[in-house]
Amino acid sequence: MPQHPDFARGLSVGIIMDGNGRWAKQRGLPRTAGHKKGAEVFQQIADYCDRIGLASVYFYAFSTENWKRPAEEVGAIMRLFGEYLVRAFDYKSRNNRIVFLGERAALDPRHQQLMAEIERDTADRTGMVLNIAVNYGGRQEITRAARLLAQEAAAGRLDPAAITEETLAARLYTAGQKDPDLILRPSGEKRLSNFMLWQAAYAEMVDMEVLWPDFTPAHLDAAIAEYNRRSRRFGGI
Ligand code: IPE
Ligand code: IPE
Ligand code: MG
Repeated sequence: MPQHPDFARGLSVGIIMDGNGRWAKQRGLPRTAGHKKGAEVFQQIADYCDRIGLASVYFYAFSTENWKRPAEEVGAIMRLFGEYLVRAFDYKSRNNRIVFLGERAALDPRHQQLMAEIERDTADRTGMVLNIAVNYGGRQEITRAARLLAQEAAAGRLDPAAITEETLAARLYTAGQKDPDLILRPSGEKRLSNFMLWQAAYAEMVDMEVLWPDFTPAHLDAAIAEYNRRSRRFGGI
């Protein structure tokens, strides 16, 4: 179906990249093969998001709960993430700001260093913001914000009575960024799994049967077309 050229312009989209394991299993491959293909699809879809003019995109790559998986699988995912970080430096021609969401202290120190460099080198870019959530959990993020506020209050820099939604939002990993308009989840699951709990307050949810390694730009088009048919009321009428 032909779409208006501006069908996605200015939107913020969250993507829960799910179904890598099932994709591999269907093919008799190890789960890690699904993650490898999933990482390639991530790069293609990130490029496409930029091309269609999204304001920002939030990719969920690894949750605070995913450490429960076998060490071998976690290791493979982290190696793929490291390869991506090295390659992200080739994106010099792009105008994307890259931001990482999540608790970094648990990650490989070399990865932490690359993440800091990439964020610093892309901080002034004016195009789409490409967010990648790694060791991210919505509850961890809100708990951390509460801790920061408590520390500031205890130090006398913040009046507890003056705390607003904006004060708290400014302590989230997404500080200063737009909330997602749309959150889509491939693989048929219909849950957030701890993704952007605060920011998702009024996001439109779209779940899709496709597994992430089979996800194509046409699937994103379809999800945005579905979003464009929805009526958002934000509590009004
Ligand atoms: C998503 O795919 C990748 C991560 C959570 C890191 P899964 O690995 O969860 O794939 P399924 O859900 O088992 O198919
Ligand atoms: C959510 O997927 C996390 C990511 C996609 C990174 P999971 O596969 O971990 O979620 P559950 O376990 O099905 O809820
Ligand atoms: Mg899963």
